[in-house]
Amino acid sequence: MTTIFSGIKPTGHLTLGNYLGAIARWVDIDQHQSDAFFSVVDLHALTVEHDPARVRRLSRQTASLMLAAGLDPAVCTLFVQSHVDEHTRLSYLLECVATDGELRRMIQYKEKSARARETGDSVRFSLLSYPVLMAADILAYRTDEVPVGEDQTQHVELARDLAVRFNQRYGQTFTVPRATRPQVAARVMDLQDPTGKMGKSHRDTAGIVYLLDDLDTVRKKIMRAVTDSGHDVVYDRDARPGAANLLDILAACRREDPAALAASYDSYGALKRDTAEAVVEVLRPLQERHAVLAADPAQVDKVLRDGAERARSVARPVVDAAYAAIGLLPAV
Ligand code: TYM
Repeated sequence: MTTIFSGIKPTGHLTLGNYLGAIARWVDIDQHQSDAFFSVVDLHALTVEHDPARVRRLSRQTASLMLAAGLDPAVCTLFVQSHVDEHTRLSYLLECVATDGELRRMIQYKEKSARARETGDSVRFSLLSYPVLMAADILAYRTDEVPVGEDQTQHVELARDLAVRFNQRYGQTFTVPRATRPQVAARVMDLQDPTGKMGKSHRDTAGIVYLLDDLDTVRKKIMRAVTDSGHDVVYDRDARPGAANLLDILAACRREDPAALAASYDSYGALKRDTAEAVVEVLRPLQERHAVLAADPAQVDKVLRDGAERARSVARPVVDAAYAAIGLLPAV
């Protein structure tokens, strides 16, 4: 059976981008067809300036939203990264396989470190080693597939490289994973700036639909989306990024094809109205289930406790094998 691993970091409220780019597929397909592990990757949230209480709060909220979206603990494993020590144990070994040069070439490191410098924040060392910890998340489960949005492709490539290098040097230990992407909405763009990604830690929130936004706010944000000049609706991500983004969102919500949908619209107004309603119809049941879970944190904690136990039982032998392969004396 295929093994799948993916994660979300609790650095902000989850967005429509997280949902359409990742979670929706985990719910609809991945959890049913594979041995699937989904993690709230809280250690990754410590790589930038953070407020401890907020990270703690967002970790439980992220887990609750993943459940509300439809992850079913009866068929998949949902857990918090820091509850399973194997991730950090393996990360160190992989630091001994990764090179400084390849980590400095990571696009997200370059962007985030530049942003930190601009705002006068120091750049944490963990921001540089971030993709190594991510590789550990993936390799500890002998993962075959990593379903992610487009922005994570380079990180998964690094995980592949590290797996291959480790196996070549120290013997066959890890499965070489590959990234998978959704056909539509692999990169949901900001509604106010459709040339940039809709990201959960952006400061300007007018172009970001959060999964827990009230539904009227969702409608307003979509109706105010920036569209392109030209009145006809065509699907062209380069020339018409605003319209293409709305078409992607609508197509992903309705499981249709964005280019085919474009042909059925002759105005942006109608496209926006239908997109707003489609998103509202996706978010309404999710928000209702979330409200129930938010009122019962003990239920969520139990899912996370059981998930961590299962995750540990799978990751421990893999990480132990890596310790032995790389030359460490087993503890007796
Ligand atoms: P994170 O928390 O930024 O995002 C979680 C998932 O949502 C996807 N995503 C998007 N997809 C489409 N359009 C968008 N605008 C959009 N924004 C986010 C991301 O691609 C991702 O799939 N480094 C990872 C977390 C991570 C991880 C892992 C993922 C840590 N370890 C191991 C997979 C496997 C991250 O920051 O995702």
